[in-house]
Amino acid sequence: MGIEIRVEGLRKSFGRQVVWEDVTLTVPASEISALLGPSGTGKSVFLKNLVGLLRPDRGHVYVDGRDVPRVRENELYEVRRRFGVLFQDGALFGSMNIYDNIAFPLREHTRRTESEIRRIVLEKMEMVGLTGSGDKLPGEISGGMKKRAGLARALVLDPEVILADEPDSGLDPVRTAYLNQLFVDLNAETGATFLIVTHDIGTARVLPDNLGLLFRRGLVMFGPREMVLSSTHPAVDQFFNARREGPIGMAEEKDAADRTAEGGPPRTLPAPIPPQLMPSDGRVRPSMRRPGEWLAAHHVTPPPGSFVDETGRDWLRDWDTLTADHQRPA
Ligand SMILES: Nc1ncnc2c1ncn2[C@@H]1O[C@H](COP(=O)(O)OP(=O)(O)OP(=O)(O)O)[C@@H](O)[C@H]1O
Ligand SMILES: [Mg+2]
Repeated sequence: MGIEIRVEGLRKSFGRQVVWEDVTLTVPASEISALLGPSGTGKSVFLKNLVGLLRPDRGHVYVDGRDVPRVRENELYEVRRRFGVLFQDGALFGSMNIYDNIAFPLREHTRRTESEIRRIVLEKMEMVGLTGSGDKLPGEISGGMKKRAGLARALVLDPEVILADEPDSGLDPVRTAYLNQLFVDLNAETGATFLIVTHDIGTARVLPDNLGLLFRRGLVMFGPREMVLSSTHPAVDQFFNARREGPIGMAEEKDAADRTAEGGPPRTLPAPIPPQLMPSDGRVRPSMRRPGEWLAAHHVTPPPGSFVDETGRDWLRDWDTLTADHQRPA
């Protein structure tokens, strides 16, 4: 179970500063989508608009027939219940230990007994690798642990939509890999809709079904992973291939510039499109598309070396044998 979020003509400003305008997209139900963009382009502001924590100047955010900016406070509560949100700063209660922080939504929104709550909290803590840290206060744990505690708290109500603002910031590469696998497995298991804000291009390239880029007060592109990763749009190409040369300047974007600081000759083709991360049980998620499907349908030749995994297996050629044991859902 997942629900789609349909955003139409959204615009948000603070005073005279327009953060973005004309933002229109559909975050498809039960799929994994990722939103990227230079620092300060309004990714966090966007997530807050989706759950009604900030109000747009104009436009609509439809969630299951309700227009979030226009619902009343009591209805907003109903909408928010269906979301699990991990805020960029983790937003933990500083005076409450990790266990109580994670238990908070269950105590607030459900009538579960303390023993049921305990089972759920311990399960989520294990899921995010925080077993044994329940007694610690947020001030006593690392930034990465705070992120994971925030994520555990976002998951306790089994939300239909999961919004995560930079869940991977402050995590080491191994933890990031675990986290991405966790998202894929959760999506496969629950069918929840995921929208993840990240600065990690590696994550963006392998994790989501759909990718979006915010840049210069607007949504430059939002669509299937293969479409975005093969795009020759200057800003999209520069961003997702971490090139130094392109319309995104140092002042606007530290990440893309940093990542290419080591140099190397400028590439002319987009980097190979990697195979998408699979659930750990090897099953194909319903929203996973056959590798190369979008490209073939749109007569786009994949960049050389695309869809070859680190073992050298070519997913374009071997997809049927890769998935032979598992009936692919329609
Ligand atoms: N409550 C607020 N009041 C006024 N301005 C705000 C508020 N929240 C955000 N802004 C401004 O809106 C712009 C977008 O901020 P936002 O935090 O959404 O960026 P971001 O894309 O999430 O950046 P980062 O990648 O660094 O997290 C910034 O210029 C910020 O200063
Ligand atoms: Mg942000």
